[in-house]
Amino acid sequence: MWRTLIVTTFGRRALFCAFTLIASMPLARGQTPDLVTRGAYLAKAADCAGCHTAPPAPGKPQPHPFAGGLPMGSPFGTIWSSNITPDPQHGIGRYSYEDFARALREGVAPGGKHLYPAMPYPSFSKVSDGDMRALYAYFMHGVEPVAQAAPETHLPFPFSQRWALVFWNLAFRPTEPFTPDPKREAQWNRGAYLVQSLGHCGACHTPRGPAYNERGYTESSRTYLTGGTNDHWYAPNLTGVSGAGLGRIAPDDIAAFLKTGHGAGLATFGSMVQVVEDSTQYLDDQDLLAIASYLKSLPANGNGGTYDARSRAAQQSVAALRTGDDERPGAGLYQSACARCHKSDGAGEAFKYPRLAGNPAVLSEKPDSLVRMVLQGGNAPSTEHGPQPKKMPAFADKLTDTEIARVLTFVRSAWGNDASPVTTRDVRSMRDAVSKRAQP
Ligand code: HEC
Ligand code: HEC
Ligand code: HEC
Repeated sequence: MWRTLIVTTFGRRALFCAFTLIASMPLARGQTPDLVTRGAYLAKAADCAGCHTAPPAPGKPQPHPFAGGLPMGSPFGTIWSSNITPDPQHGIGRYSYEDFARALREGVAPGGKHLYPAMPYPSFSKVSDGDMRALYAYFMHGVEPVAQAAPETHLPFPFSQRWALVFWNLAFRPTEPFTPDPKREAQWNRGAYLVQSLGHCGACHTPRGPAYNERGYTESSRTYLTGGTNDHWYAPNLTGVSGAGLGRIAPDDIAAFLKTGHGAGLATFGSMVQVVEDSTQYLDDQDLLAIASYLKSLPANGNGGTYDARSRAAQQSVAALRTGDDERPGAGLYQSACARCHKSDGAGEAFKYPRLAGNPAVLSEKPDSLVRMVLQGGNAPSTEHGPQPKKMPAFADKLTDTEIARVLTFVRSAWGNDASPVTTRDVRSMRDAVSKRAQP
């Protein structure tokens, strides 16, 4: 009873309460509490709850963790996540270990139901046997069963034909297990494993091909982690590119960014907020540094803008802010609408307002995330160890499409930033896309 109370009071964020409850759950023979605790940690690393928990709705009780019902936008329509609590009827209570491992690695649920790759099984195919056993122990013995059906997914024909995913899997699903590279340090190998398997970072950060396939699952592919668009958020390049990638960001700052949502003057925004809140903030420092060290080892690949604080253009943009240069109409808009928080020099304020000067996300090849951010605003992540989150206001009702295009074009070319302009059309199509999405 008190257990249900905790879960309903705190909802999805309180998943970590499960850690403390584990001791009170019945354990089958051969399952040690240690294994369940490890499974809980791995479920955080994989963000199972982030996708398998419904969003909170006003006036309704807090959704149960892992009971499914999160709508996920895909180019083919909305895909609903499943109930993965150990309820025998609505959840996965009847799964054997083999069923569980097959669903996670091959995307095939019992009864031969092929899962859509919105479930990141292509990444989970690399999860080790030991970790898979710990995850199974956690889902069977550390998670509260919830007898509640998740909504069914109905994609239009031909995507309704789940059996056709057999061919998709033959073409795209990686089949090689993760194999450590003996020439690399243990830390690098740990990072590579976490990023490629449980962390499924490529699901957002790797560009997708025409069949929604990620273009590469390891660093051996030149497109791996070079940036991708999902659900109208652009997840930036994580390779060593110096402008729009992580080339100028130190490993400690990457680790801090993943733990607290803040690092090197950047603040997490968009769909990365949920990743930090639900998943990476719970990883231990060793794992976060391993991830950072792996990312820092990725050779520079992919495109995007550049940054040079000493360039002539950098000085001109500062002059334009002072004089309200007519040729840079975005400068005046920036001064009146944005400088209050992000400051005239674009340096922001550490732990409050992100810097825009030299910010790799601002220099991204595609401006989708910036446009969406200015239209809808956002909240920095709320984490155990990070600062109080600040809000970015929404400008959808305050600025026209042309004004948003101009101010972002200015931001992408000021202070030494040099990235492609944002067009009125970019803003209009994003406005259409996000307003459509808001309707049920
Ligand atoms: C990025 C989002 C995402 C993440 C992360 C994710 N899942 Fe899923 N999962 C889904 C979606 C969406 C489906 C439903 C797919 C479908 O209907 O074809 C699903 C389906 C499943 C199923 C099949 C259930 C059934 O019978 O329908 C299992 C089991 C499962 N997930 C377990 C997990 C576990 C365990 C984790 C963490 C290790 C996890 N998932 C992480 C999105 C996700
Ligand atoms: C659900 C999609 C999604 C997943 C999964 C995801 N990211 Fe992100 N990530 C984003 C988006 C969108 C941004 C851009 C917003 C921002 O900078 O916070 C981002 C930004 C980042 C940044 C800052 C990059 C920059 O140039 O500012 C880092 C570092 C990062 N992600 C690392 C990771 C790692 C490591 C993982 C896997 C553990 C991961 N991400 C998984 C969507 C995602
Ligand atoms: C009231 C303060 C405030 C104002 C005014 C404001 N912002 Fe922000 N902005 C923020 C905060 C806080 C964040 C971080 C939000 C988050 O993490 O979700 C942010 C994030 C951003 C980001 C994402 C960068 C990153 O790394 O997190 C961009 C781009 C951005 N703002 C552009 C603008 C532009 C352009 C304007 C003017 C049209 C503007 N902002 C006005 C507070 C503000």
